[in-house]
Amino acid sequence: MRTLIANGTVVTTGGSTSADVLVDGETIAAVGTGMAGMVQVDETIDATGKWVIPGGIDVHTHMELPFGGTFAKDTFETGTRAAAFGGTTTIVDFAVQSKGKSLREGLDAWHAKAEGNAVVDYGFHMIMSDVTDDSLKEMDQLVAEGVPDFKLFTAYPGVFYSDDAAIFRAMQQTGRNGGLIMMHAENGPAIDVVAAQFVADGKTDPYYHGVVRYPIFEGEATNRVIRLAEAAGVPVYIVHLSALEALDQVRQARDRGAAAFAETCPQYLFLSLDDMGNGFEGSKFVCSPPLRPRDPHWEELWKGLRKDDLQVVSTDHCPFDFHGQKELGRGDFRKIPNGLPGVEDRVDLLHDGGVVGGRISKERWVEIISTAPARMFGMYPQKGAVAAGADADLVVYDPNRKRVISATSHHMDVDYSCYEGRTVQGGSDVVMSRGSVVVRNGTFTGRKGHGRFLRRAPADFARLA
Ligand code: URP
Ligand code: ZN
Ligand code: ZN
Repeated sequence: MRTLIANGTVVTTGGSTSADVLVDGETIAAVGTGMAGMVQVDETIDATGKWVIPGGIDVHTHMELPFGGTFAKDTFETGTRAAAFGGTTTIVDFAVQSKGKSLREGLDAWHAKAEGNAVVDYGFHMIMSDVTDDSLKEMDQLVAEGVPDFKLFTAYPGVFYSDDAAIFRAMQQTGRNGGLIMMHAENGPAIDVVAAQFVADGKTDPYYHGVVRYPIFEGEATNRVIRLAEAAGVPVYIVHLSALEALDQVRQARDRGAAAFAETCPQYLFLSLDDMGNGFEGSKFVCSPPLRPRDPHWEELWKGLRKDDLQVVSTDHCPFDFHGQKELGRGDFRKIPNGLPGVEDRVDLLHDGGVVGGRISKERWVEIISTAPARMFGMYPQKGAVAAGADADLVVYDPNRKRVISATSHHMDVDYSCYEGRTVQGGSDVVMSRGSVVVRNGTFTGRKGHGRFLRRAPADFARLA
């Protein structure tokens, strides 16, 4: 199958230019001008007035994550289909090593969940909950199998938490095998002290989840893990950074030349602690780190994105229904499953708030949602590029289309939206995954099982730093 995407504006990190994109089979054959009528194709997609961008890459999702006695609701089928509707053509999900189990068992379980079910391509990172001599050795094998990143937590004592020694040992191991440590940086033990005090005082509403997880607890843990990485001589990537206190630590680290990298998420740019009020309705917004007060955090995070102290926006997509799942925490906010839905809305929210909002250029938007994650997670230039030879993961994007976000129309398998009623400008007209159109004008045309596992190489962090 050969397709020509004609007359669009190709937007890449390097600039924007009027060009046609020729797709042959699963890859991009050529990017150039004047191809319409000159090349033989099966289909021509007219992109006049539209942008042609590399498909979005969301490097932080949790399909079917076990959490708080339940499971995140989206499967690889429903979650990647929703991603495709939102212009995201690659996800990297977190396989989970449970305590007492091997990395292998966790990874095999995630392959089984995804294989034959995903609609777009997917890779895995590995959550390490049990750092032992054996699991450290297993890390080398996972790097060789295309799973080169490992998430560890300074939060969630008794579940995913690792102490400093475990984190440092895992970092040293990546120094030997070329992998990357990703850190959930909040001081979990200190948070648990404050949370217990609040509950003892009868402060059990979801709102207090947002209060007890102080920004300084995130700042402290961020500084600590960056310092540990510096001591181990390895790069580190801070996931879902939410607060100025943490961003300042990343800024200082980068200013002194440390290989510290970080992502934030749409919820920390568009939602705030205020959303967590309104009684138990606030449970819809319970995630960790929590939503922060709007000032000063939102604009500081945007500044971080502009100045490249934050390199990526991913979603941390981890959806739990309000009914039956978030409700597990009625009467005690500590029992609310942590996580928000978002995989479908990231590209449009970032376009609306970032590009339309005048905070970032459209080229920086493409970098944040696609090219930077591809580079940092060993997928570039196969993914994240509009160039000959790259996978034909492409979006014909209408920068003027408006839509109202709602749970009644979204495709994520969850019974609410954090952005209910919000109008966003910008939307994906045509979404292509490896040369196949998977979404066309709001209709799903893809198929379950089209998505393939991506073996990723460790990124060259010396070049990225
Ligand atoms: O609240 C969150 N972020 N849930 C998903 C698990 C994690 O910590 O990323
Ligand atoms: Zn986390
Ligand atoms: Zn997460």
